[in-house]
Amino acid sequence: MITHTSYAVEPWCLRETELNLDVLPQSESMFALSNGHVGWRGNLDEGEPHGLPGSYLNGVHELRPLPYAEAGYGYPESGQTVINVTNGKVIRLLVDDEPFDLRYGRLRFHERLLDLRAGVLHRTCEWTSPAGRTIRVRSTRLVSFPQRAVAGIAYEVEPLDAKIRVVVQSELVTNEQLPHLAGDPRVAAALESPLLPEEDYAEGTRLRLIHVTKESDLRVAAAADHTVHGPKGIQTSSESSPDVSRLTITSVLEPGQALRLEKLVSYGWSAVRSLPAVRDQVDAALAGAVSTGWSGLVDQQREYLDDFWTRADVEVDGDAEIQQAVRFALFHVLQAGARAERRAIPAKGLTGSGYDGHSFWDTETFVLPLLTYTSPESVAEALRWRQSTLPAARDRARQLGQKGAAFPWRTIDGSECSAYWPAGTAAFHVNADVSDAAVRYVSCTGDEEFERETAVELLVETARLWRSLGHHDHRGRFHIDGVTGPDEYSAIGDDNVYTNLMAQSNLRAAANVSERHPDVAATLGVDDEETAAWRDAADAMSIPFNDTLGVHEQSSGFTGHQVWDFAGTRPDQYPLMLHFPYFDLYRKQVVKQADLVLAMFLRSDAFDEEQKARNFAYYEALTVRDSSLSACCQAVIAAEVGHLRLAYDYLGEAALMDLKDLENNTRDGLHMASLAGTWVALVAGFGGMRHRNGTLDFAPKLPEKLSRLAFRVSVLRRRLCVEITDSVATYTLDQGAPIEIRHYGEAFTVTDKGPVTRQVPPVAARPEPQQPPGRRPGHRH
Ligand code: BGC
Repeated sequence: MITHTSYAVEPWCLRETELNLDVLPQSESMFALSNGHVGWRGNLDEGEPHGLPGSYLNGVHELRPLPYAEAGYGYPESGQTVINVTNGKVIRLLVDDEPFDLRYGRLRFHERLLDLRAGVLHRTCEWTSPAGRTIRVRSTRLVSFPQRAVAGIAYEVEPLDAKIRVVVQSELVTNEQLPHLAGDPRVAAALESPLLPEEDYAEGTRLRLIHVTKESDLRVAAAADHTVHGPKGIQTSSESSPDVSRLTITSVLEPGQALRLEKLVSYGWSAVRSLPAVRDQVDAALAGAVSTGWSGLVDQQREYLDDFWTRADVEVDGDAEIQQAVRFALFHVLQAGARAERRAIPAKGLTGSGYDGHSFWDTETFVLPLLTYTSPESVAEALRWRQSTLPAARDRARQLGQKGAAFPWRTIDGSECSAYWPAGTAAFHVNADVSDAAVRYVSCTGDEEFERETAVELLVETARLWRSLGHHDHRGRFHIDGVTGPDEYSAIGDDNVYTNLMAQSNLRAAANVSERHPDVAATLGVDDEETAAWRDAADAMSIPFNDTLGVHEQSSGFTGHQVWDFAGTRPDQYPLMLHFPYFDLYRKQVVKQADLVLAMFLRSDAFDEEQKARNFAYYEALTVRDSSLSACCQAVIAAEVGHLRLAYDYLGEAALMDLKDLENNTRDGLHMASLAGTWVALVAGFGGMRHRNGTLDFAPKLPEKLSRLAFRVSVLRRRLCVEITDSVATYTLDQGAPIEIRHYGEAFTVTDKGPVTRQVPPVAARPEPQQPPGRRPGHRH
């Protein structure tokens, strides 16, 4: 856990005021910079010490065999792992005779600051070498949002007490040695030297390396150019070898003099382009960056982020930690998705190699909602990526004996990489999650071109899967048997309510878009009979309910299972999956993460108020939150049913998942779903926002500790600002034509004539629900 006090709580930045090597790997994730295409972990400029060196290009992966003790039909045979590509961050420094290495000498001052408004990482460091020379090093690093192939560093070194000779080595390095990552199976398997050299080049201040992956056959190139400023007499030379291309700068500096280096780096990769074409690609990107120049890149970055914050900022008064956390979250989610452009958004973004760099349903269900209301173009791109993987998803459905498309549980390039089918392939709900994200995007933007070109195909192929996976019983009820819902401590259940309700929406949405765009649907072979069959299945969908207990069954028969022995489970036995066999988890009532509770959020319309409260209390007592995807969902429903303190505690857990390293794995990369969940907990939880069938509803209420919450959402080319205090909600149209919204069910129109205010009704008290012993979230009061 990151407990030391060197992380200051500030509204617009993450500042680390001293270097603590114990949490270096975590800090590398938190200080990671990315634009969704290129990702640089927050490694120190000089490369070492490091927790995990990381430079990533979205989509660049290596294949590896997936071994099975016992073979089985339909098991994926090949896995994919994100690889550490050429590192363009490295700038080594020699001070007189000593390498600048913070493990030696005396570190007098060290500060790193991630500026969330400027989109840059600053570092300032004062260090006395073992030989007694004191220097100051300052660097600023960025991964450009507007120029997606480009990153850069401005680096400055100056003596503080006496004349020194410095040698600066600015490098591109491929196949860096990686630390051995053992232990938790979720941690990415470290791949040794995954890149084969194709070309290396160094001339003047320019460097370039081109490599190709061994098995996946992806060509990866990086190029760099430099500008050097300093006193007279600076000497430079460059050299290259297959895995290292280096510019060396030597200078003698008097106190008061500085050597400054501006390093611009460009990246490119391709599965199809030739070596000359990829070489030209990185050279061209670099030429673009050079013509903008370092300060131009800094200005562009600021402009891009000013625009983002105008659309997306969330203000929280009364809890400075949450204020910082939600901006940190918004920034990192933007970084993960902004320029991913027809590539997946991985569960860790490009901040680390955790989960092998795979994408899951996390993207569509957690990350895309935030982006839909703040940066919708990136959502269209993410869903177009899904569409581009339809050939693999259709093949997978056929292999499984089903119609339509079966999207993978985890993947980089679109093919299934899950070696554990009960919580992988059987989690078919990913199909409905994709469809839900597409429907949300269209209703939020009205993007008809996307609907015709992308949504129809996604909805039709996912609906086809549901129709073939499920069946009508003798009474006509439609069942989807033998699937795994979001709760991975139950598997192969019949009629999982989350899955069935989401599939129901999927089937209806497919019928609706097919009727709206019959010409597009016809090209996919959809006819009236098929849409009627989808509607029949949706209307007859079975939703198991236990009349005696008055609660929904998570899956058919769930409430009849033995309850997990929570009292006999020690705190150190969580997460349960690392201490108990799945067979035992599967046959007991114990819930890893929000499942029915998530259904009550995403299909709010399918439950009445009383059912929501009863279900929440029932499942709360069984939910252990062994997944970071849970707390934010629990926050939303806790707020809806009136447990505001509890909702606030869950918000705290989602928001601080990485800042406090609550799951002890922030070193592997940030939890994008939980970061996005911070926004969800605030906007859908305390803002009570629901957006279904074109209606935008709000039911705001604040926990005692928060005196004000304000957020912005963009819907149908309008920007709406919602501001909530304990007794009043104010709705202001910041931009666009009048819009009709609802406040606690009362409809009214917000126009540019001025804000509309409404009273926030008092919350009815209910008995506090209980969590399993020891699993209550930490109190924030
Ligand atoms: C969760 C899944 C999630 C995955 C990646 C697992 O622990 O149970 O729901 O998709 O992590 O975040």
